[in-house]
Amino acid sequence: MNTNDIRPVINGFLARHEEQCLQERETHFGASLQRSFYIKTYGCQMNERDSESVAALLVARGYVRAGNEDSADIVLLNTCSVREVAEQKAIGKACLLLNRRGSNKVVGIMGCMAQNRGEALLETLPDLDLIVGTQQMHRIPDFLEQGESICALEEEVDSQNALAGRLDTPPSAFVSIMQGCNMGCSYCIVPKTRGRELSRPITDIVAEVQQLAQSGTKEVTLLGQIVTSYGLGSIAFQNKQSPFVQLLRAIEAIDGIKRIRFTSPHPSGFRADLIEAFGELNKLCPNVHLPLQSGSDKILKAMKRPYTVSKYRDIVDRLKTSRTGICFSTDIIVGFPGENEEDFQATLETFDAVGFDMAYLFKYSLRTGTPAEVLGDPIPEEEKERRNQVLIEKLAQRSLASHRTCVGQSVEVLVEGPAKRGNNRYWGRTPEFKKVFFDASNADLGQLLTIEIESATTTCLLGQQVSPIKQ
Ligand code: 5AD
Ligand code: SF4
Repeated sequence: MNTNDIRPVINGFLARHEEQCLQERETHFGASLQRSFYIKTYGCQMNERDSESVAALLVARGYVRAGNEDSADIVLLNTCSVREVAEQKAIGKACLLLNRRGSNKVVGIMGCMAQNRGEALLETLPDLDLIVGTQQMHRIPDFLEQGESICALEEEVDSQNALAGRLDTPPSAFVSIMQGCNMGCSYCIVPKTRGRELSRPITDIVAEVQQLAQSGTKEVTLLGQIVTSYGLGSIAFQNKQSPFVQLLRAIEAIDGIKRIRFTSPHPSGFRADLIEAFGELNKLCPNVHLPLQSGSDKILKAMKRPYTVSKYRDIVDRLKTSRTGICFSTDIIVGFPGENEEDFQATLETFDAVGFDMAYLFKYSLRTGTPAEVLGDPIPEEEKERRNQVLIEKLAQRSLASHRTCVGQSVEVLVEGPAKRGNNRYWGRTPEFKKVFFDASNADLGQLLTIEIESATTTCLLGQQVSPIKQ
């Protein structure tokens, strides 16, 4: 096995656990000794999907899911390294867990931060039991059985195919199609934490989606760090269609699947075949997440993003022509080294011109080991925060205006779950990815309903079913 033991077995968590089990045996005769686990996930949808697959592997090995971290025998933190603050949050949580754990609890860190920091995590968290990198997470059940402290960070061929299991089949499901990224944007740690691009075969993905459809899933979101690069280098183009577009067409043909989404693409992946697909594939939702990062060509160049603002806007225009009613969302970083007021104004202009309905706004966070590290972090935090606030305000106005245009309209909503507050209140999304709250019943879960929109806020729409609620 490609693992390095980092501490002697004498500290092994299995020994601690066995001791605890004996104590339990003494006090609860005949009680189940199944070990329970809890996975806390930080970061993107890829991480959520990975956590779900690790959970499925653990359940298959006889572990049970705990409702929270306090009651679990094993707590795993699936971590994110994209910004410093995400890493600090997970380290803080691990510290808390390790400080207050009983003698039995196993604490592990997996995913991007495990890969990024590796054994160095032991300097801050010397009692950590597991450090499991992004291509070793499928081995967690084995590591737990070994009962030793383990740091496993090796790259593994085929690891992209190893995390495909799931415990639930929700109305809207994430499907991982690839991992890794070859792009090398200068600010980004992902190529270091997730490695080179590795794609799953089309047949495997189609089989997974068919299975989901048979279990009642109606919507799939195809996931990867750069989905538009799916299969490049391993799957041949066919009739000028990229592997990603071939995959979209194969999923369009699956009975029972009503909606297809994907995230995250790269603007350079929007060539004619993908733009045409938006006009032709009915199930492809009219919502494109198109990371812009900056509206200044100078900054895009420094970020090593291989497009200009005019090229980006051309893609948006061609998509709008290919399919009416597409809503765009984006990622923007403010405060990248060298971004002056003029560059920031250019971002604001592009933001207005495209008219994004949603955006993830980030303050630049210097990541050690990225190409941009040498540029330092010269823009003061207060200035980054100011730029961030300007964009937040713009986004709020734009989202509210966009949501208000829906008032009085009937929209199609896939019912995803009960709302956190309110009796008989449920939520779902429109094809454009707008969140809608409405009255419904459990029988409506997973159904596509027509909802008449009565009011709107910056974050959601509120409405009522057009047809009477089935009880
Ligand atoms: N600082 C701030 N934001 C970043 N992102 C990636 N790296 C950084 C960084 N170093 C943002 C980008 C990317 C999103 C997932 O996170 O906008 O698209
Ligand atoms: Fe990071 Fe750029 Fe790859 Fe996205 S495309 S994961 S921002 S390197």
